[in-house]
This record gives sequence, structure tokens and C-alpha cells, in this order.
Amino acid sequence: MTKILMVCLGNICRSPLAEGILRSKLPKHSFTIDSAGTAAYHIGSSPDRRSVAIARKYGLDISNLMGRQFGVSDFDRFDLIYAMDNSNFQNVVKLARDENDLAKVKLILNEVYPNQNHDVPDPYYGGDQGFQNVYQMLDEACDIIAEKVTR
Ligand code: 4NP
Repeated sequence: MTKILMVCLGNICRSPLAEGILRSKLPKHSFTIDSAGTAAYHIGSSPDRRSVAIARKYGLDISNLMGRQFGVSDFDRFDLIYAMDNSNFQNVVKLARDENDLAKVKLILNEVYPNQNHDVPDPYYGGDQGFQNVYQMLDEACDIIAEKVTR
């Protein structure tokens, strides 16, 4: 079983969408996909309705996901940890206990644009177009991740 965690700030916009998209591209029996936020603001919350809507537009149902906060134990529970942006990458890296933890943490858009350290922009304070853009970025990244982890 390969276990992959998607991480953003609130765990209501970007990472639940990334979770739903990647899950849809991988066989259930051999992959566990989850998401978490580095902040505590939205623990127990459903994904933002705009993330739910854009997922639904592409045939994915993420409405039942629930916000939770990233914790040090996630380094033990997951093989790969994808941060949505540089700020959350740093938030996670700060919690790493050793080189083994550190090696699990990646910036998700580096799968598409290696070593360029691009952010998936936070769409929370913007409009619906921001969620459409985020969906396209994550779909492209998740295609590459799915191809890599099933190779
Ligand atoms: P996310 O977006 O990190 O993609 O879930 C955000 C959601 C909520 C907040 C910030 C970003 N917030 O400040 O409440």
C-alpha cells in the first residue's frame, strides 16, 4: 500500500481537491490518499463549496471530506507528502524529525515543472476562475504522480 498525503493551509480548498483528483486516478486497493491543512482554522469543516463544485463538474464527489490539521504522526503514516505551495512546504518541513521525514515532502507543481518551485495559488479569497485554474494545475500534476507511483 502506497500512502500519499496532500497538504495546503486550510484543508478546505486545494488539498481536498488534490485528494479527490489523485484518488480518481489510482486503484483503490493499493493506494491510500488523504489531505490535511497546516493551519487549524477548518478542523472538522467540509471542503469549500467552490472546490466541491469544480470537482463535481469533473465527475468527482469530495463533499464528504472533512478538514483536519497536519501533525508529526503524518510522517509515520504517509510515504509521500505533497505541499500545495512554498509556504506550506516550509510549514511541513519545520515539523520533520529527521532526513527520512524530510525526504517525503515535495512541492506538488515540481512534478510538472521540476525544480521551479511554483505555487498552486490559494484560491480562497478569489472567484470561481481561481478554482478552475487550481483544478487544471492539480489534474496535470496528479496525472504525473499517478503515472510515477504505478510505474
Ligand atoms: P486552502 O485555502 O489552504 O487551499 O484550503 C484556504 C482556506 C482557508 C483559509 C486560507 C486558505 N483561511 O484563511 O481561512
